[in-house]
Amino acid sequence: MKVAGSVLVPGDKSITHRVLLLAALSRGTSYVGGALTSLDARSTARVLRQLGAELSPLRQGMPVTVRGRGKFRRPDGPLFCGNSGTTTRLLLGLLAAHRFSVTLTGDRSLRRRPMRRVTFPLATMGARFTEQNGDGLPLTIRGERLRSLRYEMPVSSAQIKSALLLAGMAAEVDVALLEPDGRSRDHTERLLQAFGYGVTEKDGWIHFSPGGCLEPFDVQIPGDPSSAAFLAGAATLAEAGELRIAGVGVNPTRTGFLSVLGRMGGKIQIENHSFRFGEPVGDLIVRPAPLHGTEVAAGEIPGVIDEIPLLAVLASRAAGTTSFRRVGELRVKESDRLGLIAENLRAVGTNAQVLGDDLVVEGSDQAPRGKVRTAADHRLAMAFAVLGTVSGARIRVDDMACAAVSFPEFPATLRGIAARGGK
Ligand code: S3P
Repeated sequence: MKVAGSVLVPGDKSITHRVLLLAALSRGTSYVGGALTSLDARSTARVLRQLGAELSPLRQGMPVTVRGRGKFRRPDGPLFCGNSGTTTRLLLGLLAAHRFSVTLTGDRSLRRRPMRRVTFPLATMGARFTEQNGDGLPLTIRGERLRSLRYEMPVSSAQIKSALLLAGMAAEVDVALLEPDGRSRDHTERLLQAFGYGVTEKDGWIHFSPGGCLEPFDVQIPGDPSSAAFLAGAATLAEAGELRIAGVGVNPTRTGFLSVLGRMGGKIQIENHSFRFGEPVGDLIVRPAPLHGTEVAAGEIPGVIDEIPLLAVLASRAAGTTSFRRVGELRVKESDRLGLIAENLRAVGTNAQVLGDDLVVEGSDQAPRGKVRTAADHRLAMAFAVLGTVSGARIRVDDMACAAVSFPEFPATLRGIAARGGK
């Protein structure tokens, strides 16, 4: 494949969820440009409407108008969070401070994902929970008057951290959190700071203190680096050309894949730096490059958590071995990503193993061929579609439609960067 041109990626998923939640909880009208309009973003919009906020339809290229009432209203029925763990966990944090009962549920994948990692510390703050399915969904929360919290998190996770910070914000109590293995994405901290809340870091502890004020706002959301990563991966594997991915968020807690890819020999530069609402933005310029294996340390994993399917696919085309250390968290993503990455890499002819909590991938220069089982996991579908662009590849992904969870335009965009350059 030859690549060329300049493309855009959809709005950042993590920032879209957070901005919609905060806008819905402020009193007045906010305008959100560049929001993601994928299925996950729609899940957040849908449940916020049930909670009393008014949101205009999520349409690509149109700003979203959000009218909040300063607090949530008790919904008529259960909140269906679709496939979105971020919607569920962040909302639990906010609902913990609202004094009504509400049940949250989701699709088959979401119902099996662990919630005690959020409900346990929220219960310590005072919220009450009734489980219907052990650690998973459906789950009923009853918000209460909350106490402050000092908590050592069992895993580095932006969803746990954000749920607890948002609970602190909604209840106006102090929260102190320690992440064990490296820093997860910090969009919630940046947003809370923008609204005047105290968020500081000392000796690894993140301290939140109330005192800010959630006002309606106007924001332009940057492109999602996790979506850009798939296109950057395709351009890296290409035989010639250059691809520009414009207006991508380059928050350092999200760009770990650029460091890993750089270590593997990848050629990516960032140009046109700017800032939007406390978030750094830039254009990624990607050129094809031969890759070699690397070791991705446990401390780097929170910074590449969503890019591991793509990095594993790139590792399967690199010279030598690549090891991803302590990636057990991948078992509880939208699918058992850890098992399925290895299984699918083997299915297309690569040697890949899960050894304890590590993933080890041997590079190969044979044309990858075989069937890929995604279990409806968007990031697996997109990663293996990227592998399918390699010369001589014959890869059948069982479900490409699931890309709509985060990047509905992905199949067309991938075709576009190849078609423009020609095969
Ligand atoms: C997200 C955090 C990550 C990531 C997910 C989105 C967020 O999960 O996998 O896609 O927006 O907070 P962790 O909770 O493992 O950090």
